[in-house]
Amino acid sequence: MKYNLSEISDLIQSRRSIAPENFTERKIQREQIEKLIQCAVFAPNHKNTQPWHFHVFLDESMNLLRETLPTLLPESETSKINRMKIRLNQTSSAIIVTYTPSEKVDEGEELIATACAIQNMLLMAHASGFSGFWSTPKFIKTKGFLELLELPLNQNCLGIIYFGYTKMNWPTSHRKPIEYVTIWH
Ligand SMILES: Cc1cc2nc3c(=O)[nH]c(=O)nc-3n(C[C@H](O)[C@H](O)[C@H](O)COP(=O)(O)O)c2cc1C
Repeated sequence: MKYNLSEISDLIQSRRSIAPENFTERKIQREQIEKLIQCAVFAPNHKNTQPWHFHVFLDESMNLLRETLPTLLPESETSKINRMKIRLNQTSSAIIVTYTPSEKVDEGEELIATACAIQNMLLMAHASGFSGFWSTPKFIKTKGFLELLELPLNQNCLGIIYFGYTKMNWPTSHRKPIEYVTIWH
């Protein structure tokens, strides 16, 4: 057997979403981000359209997100604004993932493929000893968000993925036993 199945199964099941509030100050390096994206682009995608784009913010360029993203939340939502500021300050790297619809397959398929790419990144981050946190604030669907980040308007955003090393004890999670979700035919 080429791969250690028990390690792979453990990797998949122990991946957790850890909010950036629990990140340490240890920085993520450019080479680590490149490895995540290298795995992301091998996600399954119909007709090999490779619809995804990875907008990487690292170290200094995180300042652009720190300055702009909180302004996209309604002024009245002060707790959300404060939480976002904390998250952005605690994060040394984030990737905004978008896809461009093609005319070759349904747009839903491009979206699904891009979600698979994100999961590849999350698993690779976990395997590398740090965490990814997938966040989908409502404003990612707005034209204002794309304009602010100077992203082409034909792209759709699937989320902001924050990356960092975590300082908390690793949380457990549970899922329904597979008997509840499996129908044997
Ligand atoms: C499409 C998608 C969007 C998500 N958006 C958010 C989000 O906006 N905020 C958040 O706290 N978690 C978000 N998450 C992470 C989920 O909350 C998390 O995966 C879920 O609680 C299960 O926990 P686990 O990832 O540790 O297994 C999102 C996950 C997915 C797949």
